[in-house]
Amino acid sequence: MSERLAGRMIGLGVTGSIAAYKAVELLRLLRSEGADIAVMLTPAATQFVGPLSFRALSRHPIETNVLDLLPDGRIGHIVIADSADAIVVAPATAHWLAAMATGLSGDVVTATCLASSAPVVVAPAMDGDMWTHPATTANVAKLRSFGYAVIDPDVGPLASGQSGIGRLAELPAIVDAVVALLADRSIRASDPAARPPVVAPGRDADLAGRHVVVSAGGTREAIDPVRYIGNRSTGKMGVAVAEAALDRGARVTLIAADVEVTLPAGATVIRVESTADLRGALLRVTHGADGSAGYDALIMAAAVSDFRPLIPAETKLGRTETLTLDLEATPDLLAEIARIAQGLDSEGAVTRDPLQPRPILVGFAAETGSLDRTAEKLRRKRVDLIVANDVAEAGSGFGTDTNRASILAADGARSDLPLQSKRAVADAVLDRVAVALDERDRAAQTDATSEPAREPA
Ligand SMILES: Cc1cc2nc3c(=O)[nH]c(=O)nc-3n(C[C@H](O)[C@H](O)[C@H](O)COP(=O)(O)O)c2cc1C
Repeated sequence: MSERLAGRMIGLGVTGSIAAYKAVELLRLLRSEGADIAVMLTPAATQFVGPLSFRALSRHPIETNVLDLLPDGRIGHIVIADSADAIVVAPATAHWLAAMATGLSGDVVTATCLASSAPVVVAPAMDGDMWTHPATTANVAKLRSFGYAVIDPDVGPLASGQSGIGRLAELPAIVDAVVALLADRSIRASDPAARPPVVAPGRDADLAGRHVVVSAGGTREAIDPVRYIGNRSTGKMGVAVAEAALDRGARVTLIAADVEVTLPAGATVIRVESTADLRGALLRVTHGADGSAGYDALIMAAAVSDFRPLIPAETKLGRTETLTLDLEATPDLLAEIARIAQGLDSEGAVTRDPLQPRPILVGFAAETGSLDRTAEKLRRKRVDLIVANDVAEAGSGFGTDTNRASILAADGARSDLPLQSKRAVADAVLDRVAVALDERDRAAQTDATSEPAREPA
């Protein structure tokens, strides 16, 4: 299919909705139609999704503050207002609709729309009651009276956990609306000098557009309502991985067991306590219903208990001379996710199609002494990488700021990293994850293009 927006400049405004992450995919779709995109985020939107992904994918500076100037001194929102063929606000919050309806230009998205004669497409997303509130209805009517194309939200699952109207319209419908609006219009500003400046993608944005799930901290297995079996993990390593992934442009979901460190602000955090909770959270994020895992990489840095009390006591155990606990082995969570990803049952037999695209799976192995068992673990768990560290070595392992790790890959490669900060170890792991994801995508493209042509019907 030809590129329907070739040569066009589109201003993409993103506001503070839970659906803001979908704007990254919308950017990809608009770019795949040939459009040049300049992104504007309201301050609230930056809490939901970081500017780095947008910058890496759009190759333009991201406007987040209406008072900021471009590096070349021009006023960012005026440059977009004057050069954009169309402005798309997706997702648009109830708050933004109200600001726009009254012309309150306190954020860069509203200011750009006010300053522009370009057609505007607005795709609201919000809770169902917010959408049907008379205030929102009036604001939407006002925007329509400006000539803005408002794409009604869909009915479906909402962030609140309820289902109803308010879900951001399907992204292809938003793209189609932009294409339709521009059908009879000529390109406004084809001279790149009239558009926002181009920035080279940073090497550090190599996970832009990727969703990375990280588990961190130690699990707690109840003995009775007040006591548990835990471990010495502080969550430092997993949190370092999450922070590094965020800095490299990824969308990060952090499944946090017991942690003693501050969690990064930009991650979506799921709190868990026991191995069973962690398993539940992992199975929920690995939905697979649409044939994908819902994430690009899973990095299991959490210290998962290997054993748990067979039957936790329902009431607090009284003091006795001795106490014997019956323990059972906990399930091997990473191995289970790897089997799901590969379409295997618990016996290793193929029962369904593997998840597509294939998620990259990384395990951490805390060892004491030699790392000989790690290669066997890698095979048994069927994962892409295992990061092994000797937790008995000084300066390495639980609670320290440093780690000496070895990274073992499924192809047999092993690299022994020096003793370094956990952040540096995290980046070394993510270097390999980024390469593995690029290889995965290249292989998928080669498979798609080498598929035999179908016989004509
Ligand atoms: C988790 C979470 C999700 C939210 N999702 C939405 C949403 O989908 N739509 C909406 O109108 N407001 C939503 N809000 C409220 C907005 O973020 C809030 O009104 C904010 O002031 C919007 O600012 P903005 O319009 O300048 O981006 C959400 C708030 C939170 C905490």
